[in-house]
Amino acid sequence: MNMKFSKRMDGLASAIFSQLENKKNEMAASGRTVINFSIGTPDMPPAPHVIKTMQEETGKPENYRYAVKDIPELTDTVIEWYDNRFGVKLERDEVLSMAGSQDGLAHIGLTLADPGEMVMVPDPGYPIFSVGPSIACARLFRIPLLKQNNFIMDLDAIDPSTAHNAKLIVVSYPNNPVTAVAPPEFYEKLVWFAKKYDIAVVHDNAYCELAFDGVRLGSFLSFPGARDVGVEFNSLSKSYNMPGCRIAFALGNRKIIGQLSNLKSHLDYGTFLPVQRAAIAALTGPQDCVAQTVETYQRRRDLLIDGFKEIGWDMDKPPATMFVWAKIPPAYTSSVEFTFDLLEKTGVIVVPGSSFGEMGEGFVRMALVQPEDKIRKAVELVKESGVLR
Ligand SMILES: Cc1ncc(COP(=O)(O)O)c(C=O)c1O
Repeated sequence: MNMKFSKRMDGLASAIFSQLENKKNEMAASGRTVINFSIGTPDMPPAPHVIKTMQEETGKPENYRYAVKDIPELTDTVIEWYDNRFGVKLERDEVLSMAGSQDGLAHIGLTLADPGEMVMVPDPGYPIFSVGPSIACARLFRIPLLKQNNFIMDLDAIDPSTAHNAKLIVVSYPNNPVTAVAPPEFYEKLVWFAKKYDIAVVHDNAYCELAFDGVRLGSFLSFPGARDVGVEFNSLSKSYNMPGCRIAFALGNRKIIGQLSNLKSHLDYGTFLPVQRAAIAALTGPQDCVAQTVETYQRRRDLLIDGFKEIGWDMDKPPATMFVWAKIPPAYTSSVEFTFDLLEKTGVIVVPGSSFGEMGEGFVRMALVQPEDKIRKAVELVKESGVLR
């Protein structure tokens, strides 16, 4: 049968990742050491009380029915969390759990944009920011994140005639992959911009807890008017090392939450009840596990950056996230070429910046998901390989 797939599938192929995976497997099979900094999945476990809750709750037969909705205790917990942590007071219809922020980012475009309508996304950007709207057949307008602007979106540089056509803007700080944090003025401008041009905002706050050097970051929803224009997604995946549990929340504008909830009622039947209970345990239990996670990433960050600096690869220290965004050495002009050369010569795997968008060219992303001995080893391998010369 000559099976013809939809055009939207063409945009979803990621040749680079399968090539990297193949190369990695080939090298591992031939006995080479491979140190993988490419995948942004935490290598640390959730806190023991979260695992215990999951164990207890999965042992209860009644927890295997369709959850359909969030249990009231979960909604109350999230309301309390946002109030205590960010000073944001939410109502019950302003909170919705999802199967990770990925779920929300994949589907929100369907609720706000008709085919051909415009969605603004950052470039470089975490892939689902543009893949989600593309699934909805929306038109993308890519806002460059430039180093000379500290990777903050320059909303003033957007032509008003373009802005008038946009339905949705996807924003995320602390940012994956560029690691930047946005100042309060940016969020004030964002609310103004959204109101002026009638654009809904999604702020992805996946890394709000992973801020280094004692800094405490906030929520988009704490800015006046934010809730009139948009929603924030906040995930337990990185803050509580629960990526496999698949739980995050959409918070804020009740009209958007209502439509997302409506759409999701056709796609899934709610979040698995033991996962809802585990989320309550994470948010209400001792919070020192979050501080420990941050400390671990910060130590790895310093080790990796100081190590590479010492051997001649200079890079900025990220203020937040679990990533390092590094310029490729001057001898290279392509991040893909550097990535494959690095892998071949050292066994170290990074992600080419261009896979996050055109503006990511010239950079690579490293996830701080390897223990300290592996980081030291990676620095040694890079030094010995001569790849920086
Ligand atoms: C910026 C950003 N948003 C969302 C996600 C997805 O998170 P979740 O596990 O909540 O789907 C990730 C995962 O790496 C991410 O980096």
